[in-house]
Amino acid sequence: MTDYIRWGILSTANIGRKVIPAIQQSRNGRVAAVASRSLERAEAYAAELGIPLAYGSYEALLQDPNIDAIYNPLPNSEHAPWSIRAAEAGKPVLCEKPLATDTAEAQQMVEAFEQRGLLFAEAFMYRFHPQTERVMAMIESGAVGEMQIIEASFTFTVQRENDVRLDQSLAGGGLWDVGCYCVNVMRLMTGEEPDDVRALARFGEQSGVDESLVGLLSFPSGVLGHFDSGLRTSLKHGYEIRGSGGRILVEEGFGIDPTRPTTIRHWQGGRYNEITIPAANHYTLMAEDFADALLNNRPPRFPPQDGVRNMAVLDRLLATARQAG
Ligand SMILES: NC(=O)c1ccc[n+]([C@@H]2O[C@H](COP(=O)([O-])OP(=O)(O)OC[C@H]3O[C@@H](n4cnc5c(N)ncnc54)[C@H](OP(=O)(O)O)[C@@H]3O)[C@@H](O)[C@H]2O)c1
Repeated sequence: MTDYIRWGILSTANIGRKVIPAIQQSRNGRVAAVASRSLERAEAYAAELGIPLAYGSYEALLQDPNIDAIYNPLPNSEHAPWSIRAAEAGKPVLCEKPLATDTAEAQQMVEAFEQRGLLFAEAFMYRFHPQTERVMAMIESGAVGEMQIIEASFTFTVQRENDVRLDQSLAGGGLWDVGCYCVNVMRLMTGEEPDDVRALARFGEQSGVDESLVGLLSFPSGVLGHFDSGLRTSLKHGYEIRGSGGRILVEEGFGIDPTRPTTIRHWQGGRYNEITIPAANHYTLMAEDFADALLNNRPPRFPPQDGVRNMAVLDRLLATARQAG
């Protein structure tokens, strides 16, 4: 029995430059190998990030008996095919968000892992940040009174026209890329699934993907949510929760800098309070939860079915935006 797991990284994705050092800092994980469609790229990436082994094909990584778990940061359209191939090779997978290209595919993924008794989780890292946990605890203890409105935003500007996010064939688009966080945080904070959703979007003339989108969600308890996501709009990534007796504002809610403390702003009964949350690396915390689950044969903190439910909301939102557009 070891007290750590050996991770294999599927591709030389950019996000790996954040996640790999975070796993390397984790108390129960080592990054053992990376695979790319090109051996040259895998070797360069391995050298850059201090990974001991590089493979020139994804399949070779999946067949390596010394790999305990796979991190899958492929483009969205490749999440399902390669996660399922990993399951067939007997490997547990931590898969990037959103789980798949649609609900049916996400469900197939979950079943592929369930059937084999393998661990599977979606990499919504912000849920592991102590800031998110604190906001949930505040709501639970009545910090906003009866919750009524949640608003969320995640917008940023893509830097390259050949970015995977602008490629429809790779399941790009702002809703899949960043709007998924807004939907996720609303589901997390309410603990409910929306019973009605609508969206309006601007689809890129060249890209065909939703480059800008606003969405509305109605929850059974009466909470209403509104959000925006975008690939060509200045950076904003936060959320606000308002209720009958208070307001919580989280300005840095999703892409939280692991090197700096963050602030929760809270208004209640005419008083304003700032709560400082010490710096934390949510990628490390997420990887540690996954590794603990694997080492102790327990489920991950957030069940993979949550990813299917998130996907279902995204599917409905995009369908209404396409109808409207
Ligand atoms: N949780 C977060 O904070 C976060 C942040 C950013 C992105 N993400 C997610 O991570 C995933 C990757 O995003 P990214 O920005 O890191 O993407 P990226 O830099 O474009 O990397 C994607 C990788 O996938 C591989 N790939 C396989 N088939 C491909 C194809 N047809 N076209 C392009 N690349 C292909 C490539 O690696 P090889 O050439 O080595 O095979 C490429 O480096 C997405 O699902 C995204 O939603 C998550």
